[in-house]
Amino acid sequence: MMLRVLQLGRAQRVLQYFKNIAPGLFLQELLNRPGAIGAICPSSRYLARQMARQIPGSGDGIIIELGGGTGVITRALLDSGIAPEKLKVIEFSSPFVQRLRQRFPDVEVIHGNAADLCDLIPQDTKVRAIVSSLPLCSLPEPITHSILEQWRTLLHDGGVAIQFTYNLRLPKWRRLVNARHTSSQFVWANLPPANITTFSFSQPS
Ligand SMILES: C[S@@+](CC[C@H](N)C(=O)[O-])C[C@H]1O[C@@H](n2cnc3c(N)ncnc32)[C@H](O)[C@@H]1O
Repeated sequence: MMLRVLQLGRAQRVLQYFKNIAPGLFLQELLNRPGAIGAICPSSRYLARQMARQIPGSGDGIIIELGGGTGVITRALLDSGIAPEKLKVIEFSSPFVQRLRQRFPDVEVIHGNAADLCDLIPQDTKVRAIVSSLPLCSLPEPITHSILEQWRTLLHDGGVAIQFTYNLRLPKWRRLVNARHTSSQFVWANLPPANITTFSFSQPS
């Protein structure tokens, strides 16, 4: 029992140590909510740029980014030519929301859960692409399922979902909503290397 208490105390000290030396917000959030972060560090600029390149060049509608974090992908989306008023960023963590609003005052950053996406944006919004870095494989399956249902509702009209994973195989979650895989692109320059996958959806039944 005593040993257990000592071990717990040591674990907390180690955690506090990492919090104190954390170079940034990302590590702090990772320590607080590992399952909802699902990555050991922010995405690289290469990965972010490649994510932005997957957005279809033509077509109207807005771009929705899910899980903005510290804003690496938001930056790449704006740099790729997407107008700030055509971009909405959804983020669950308050510290990240604060940081995103400071960094991108012209972009609408919505503090909310991607599982409620359809309620967070005006009804009948046309969506060209959803760019997601949500950790869909580590979130509880009912949450992942709700998130994907939102994608299916918003994207059945020709939009695409762009998601990266650290897995070489196609993600299993795609079967939950019959997502059609349209392309994959592997990016080595990321820690760890990542696979960008894009999906389209048919009309919800
Ligand atoms: C892997 S991090 C990606 C952060 C950043 N986009 C990047 O690429 O470095 C996942 C992000 O998704 C956010 N997130 C997790 N679950 C969420 C949810 N249900 N709704 C909105 N954001 C969520 C986390 O807070 C975190 O910012």
